[in-house]
Amino acid sequence: MKLKDQVAVITGAGRNIGEETAKLLAAEGARIAVVDMDRGRADKVAADIRAAGGDAGGFVADVSDEAAVEKLVADVTAKWGRIDILVNNAAYSDNKTIFEITKAEWDKTIAVTLTGPFLVGKHVAQAMVKAGNGGKIVNVGSTSGFRGRPRAIAYTSAKGGVANLTRSMAMQLAPHNIRVNGVIPNKIGSPVGKDTFDPTRPVTNLRGRNGEPIDLAKAVLFLVSDDSDFIVGDLLFVDGGYSVMME
Ligand SMILES: NC(=O)c1ccc[n+]([C@@H]2O[C@H](COP(=O)([O-])OP(=O)(O)OC[C@H]3O[C@@H](n4cnc5c(N)ncnc54)[C@H](O)[C@@H]3O)[C@@H](O)[C@H]2O)c1
Repeated sequence: MKLKDQVAVITGAGRNIGEETAKLLAAEGARIAVVDMDRGRADKVAADIRAAGGDAGGFVADVSDEAAVEKLVADVTAKWGRIDILVNNAAYSDNKTIFEITKAEWDKTIAVTLTGPFLVGKHVAQAMVKAGNGGKIVNVGSTSGFRGRPRAIAYTSAKGGVANLTRSMAMQLAPHNIRVNGVIPNKIGSPVGKDTFDPTRPVTNLRGRNGEPIDLAKAVLFLVSDDSDFIVGDLLFVDGGYSVMME
């Protein structure tokens, strides 16, 4: 087991990429704080992990609410005594054009998708520094942070921010033995904000299939395990080669 007895906080872990990541890290021995805004989803994933012989608890928090994030970190630390791993996975997509989106929708998208990873990263890192054991953080970005899109504008801006948030976090937390990296997915499972896999989603990569949540979970496992000990501040593209294609 690669993560035996380590404590992992995974945001947006109530379904899809976060859920699969929670289950894979649990299978490698980590105790999982399954964090989601939706109580039913968080508790269901935590129950699934326990039923499979792992250790997990459901935690409800909105990652864009600093008071909720502080409570989350205090609750997880009270339950397991430490935090070793953070996966900043929760996000919200606007799917709007610049003319359609309102200021309120812009603010919400930035708050969840960019400010959320900053807030959870800040408070978890503080707990890691206090505990003195170092740690590993993975921010989930998106290929949308590297390209323009016809129908998303706050989300693409926020994910561009997540890429450089990752680099600055990596520099600022390295002296504390906290290793920060990012994963960059494209078209994994169902679209962000949707529950069901859409088999008609066009395949635009070099693998001839769309990604599955397990593809992302395996990349996250690599980045939080000692197998990636010399990798810091990197953005690992998990996109079937989409980003290297001209057309
Ligand atoms: N699905 C894709 O094709 C795809 C592509 C590129 C990047 N990504 C990124 O991967 C990550 C996961 O995507 P997904 O498709 O699994 O998402 P999803 O929408 O299926 O699930 C996200 C989960 O996060 C929770 N959540 C939403 N807002 C929250 C908040 N403010 N606080 C706490 N929890 C919140 C939701 O309740 C949900 O359970 C996101 O960062 C997303 O941007 C996904």
